[in-house]
Amino acid sequence: MLISFEGIDGSGKSTQVHLLKTYLHTRGIEALALREPGGVALAEKIRALLLESKQDIHPTAELLLFAASRAELCETLILPALQKGTIVILDRFYDSTTAYQGFGRGLDLQMIATINRIASFGLVPALTFYLDILPEDALLRKFSEKSLPLAFGKDELPLDRMERSGLDFYRRVREGYLTLARQEPERIVQLDALRPVSDLHREIVSHLQKKLGIG
Ligand code: TYD
Repeated sequence: MLISFEGIDGSGKSTQVHLLKTYLHTRGIEALALREPGGVALAEKIRALLLESKQDIHPTAELLLFAASRAELCETLILPALQKGTIVILDRFYDSTTAYQGFGRGLDLQMIATINRIASFGLVPALTFYLDILPEDALLRKFSEKSLPLAFGKDELPLDRMERSGLDFYRRVREGYLTLARQEPERIVQLDALRPVSDLHREIVSHLQKKLGIG
């Protein structure tokens, strides 16, 4: 079974991915957690290109680099793990592309849907947890976690290339996620990211138990 976590940067996805993986392991259920972009050598190189580059990358090239990273991760790890019956937990999957490159960068959504299908080999998560947060709150949270002062000049902010895209970009990305959650309520569970971590974890586990048919 494939499960994905989505949300803008600073929504607390990675914490929930870790908690869910630990929960499954302690119950003797095999689970593999992976992040996108990355997870395998080539995809990590693409990740560095996408996030650490000081230069601009055109939106279509950006889209195709995220897709290339996903295709490599799918063929190398995700598909073989699913075939073995392992639960695969993804910190981001193709909904990130729709939200960031589609709604955020403004690329054509039909084209993105086609590329997403190719890059993910038609895989669709059984469940997607979308952690909803206002971009302003996400930014504050990110800085307070890193104990960074907010008094940085724009060019000195310790942000990666995506995070330098600005607040309006993140507002569009969030709108994208909200639209997806409305379009696919059966698959996408929308959660308020500001709720306590343990509360969210409990709710996530209960959705998963229902899906797995266990109590
Ligand atoms: P990462 O540091 O993993 O951010 P986070 O911890 O928030 O997941 O960086 C991944 C960045 O790449 C993040 O800004 C979202 C972006 N992204 C896309 O724009 N499109 C995609 O398809 C994916 C997978 C990620």
